[in-house]
Amino acid sequence: MNSSSFNLQNKRVLVTGGAGFIGSHTALELQNAGCKVTIIDNLTNSKTTVLDRINELSETTPVFIKTDIRDTEKVTRVMKENDIEDVIHFAGLKAVGESTQIPDEYYDVNFNGTVSLLNAMKEAAVKSLIFSSSATVYGENANPPLTETLAIDVQGISHAYGRSKAMIELMLEDYTRANKDLSVTCLRYFNPVGAHPSGKMGEDPKGLPNNLMPFVSQVAVGKREKLTVFGNDYNTPDGTCLRDYLHVCDLAEGHLAALDYRIKKGKPGLEVFNFGTGKPSSVLEVIKAFEKASGKNIPYDFGDRRPGDVPSTYADPVLAKEKLGWETKYTLDEMCKHSWNWQNDNPDGYPDS
Ligand code: NAD
Ligand code: WQD
Repeated sequence: MNSSSFNLQNKRVLVTGGAGFIGSHTALELQNAGCKVTIIDNLTNSKTTVLDRINELSETTPVFIKTDIRDTEKVTRVMKENDIEDVIHFAGLKAVGESTQIPDEYYDVNFNGTVSLLNAMKEAAVKSLIFSSSATVYGENANPPLTETLAIDVQGISHAYGRSKAMIELMLEDYTRANKDLSVTCLRYFNPVGAHPSGKMGEDPKGLPNNLMPFVSQVAVGKREKLTVFGNDYNTPDGTCLRDYLHVCDLAEGHLAALDYRIKKGKPGLEVFNFGTGKPSSVLEVIKAFEKASGKNIPYDFGDRRPGDVPSTYADPVLAKEKLGWETKYTLDEMCKHSWNWQNDNPDGYPDS
């Protein structure tokens, strides 16, 4: 399966947050599949120079409009002017730790932002939404492998980021019940990592990275001295946490599969899919794989457990395979190799515009 396996030629798709990590890789794949892509982004966590890279890798440029998703009027106008048929909604704030400090911002951008987007869709008569959800909606007490039949556990989530995602999913359930012509697909990502194999696009965190893979990459390239592994006394084979890492290009392709499925199905309603590999890796396995991929030594020490971390979480990915015909293909070694290509070629991330 690749972008040309789908019949998406000339589909007019709005990508919110399309300048960000996952949105930009998805926008590229949509372009390569012949879609007409419009990106909206307020650039709080991205730069416009990513558009040059999309352009370079797809030979066409998406329409880009700088706007906040909470500006309902402007977003409505963008949808009408570009005759949008489908929305893929990535825009939002995603730092778990930060969300415990400024929950108001997280609820405003993530929750109110999605309400605003839904209002714009109603105004512009757009009836299809694919939403970036997260495995975090299963809460911190669920036992892996996690299947979509498990209930969303708002009470079992310890941070505003995860709760905002859970609350959005619940809201989308209500919207699809009330609006019989609305089609919504919630995609619950596990741990997206990696970068475009070309090394031209990747994750570009501002300041200290919150997540493991960008931190490891920055240590490998010499920007940071060492990694602290958060806990080595978990009840796991090597004592460090297990996570389901998936390649961002697999993830991007999954969005095309979800869009293709939505169009073929032609039936409104809400559907939910896990996006993961089903094969967890430990923190130490990631470090080892990255050392092999980069040829660099990654110094690390063991620190305290990080609050809110669960010992092990990974997807049951069967539903996406059965219904969307999509499954991941990249290995952990390839995820590390491509992250390294990106980090080594772009040690300071995307250039300023
Ligand atoms: P990202 O920060 O790289 O991309 C998000 C983009 O949204 C950024 O370009 C940012 O500038 C933009 N944005 C933020 N607030 C906005 C607003 N109010 N209006 C318009 N644009 C706005 O993040 P990402 O890793 O690409 O994540 C994309 C989506 O996937 C997010 O919704 C995130 O919660 C979800 N998700 C991410 C992960 C992950 O680990 N990366 C895991 C699960 C779910
Ligand atoms: C992975 C493992 C850490 C950094 C988060 C969100 C989740 C989703 C994906 C959005 C854990 C360990 C990390 C470091 C470390 N995002 N680690 N040292 O926490 O599984 O998931 O991103 O929806 O909601 O919670 O990912 O990359 O932060 O951590 O030892 O410096 O690496 O303890 O075991 P996590 P992560």
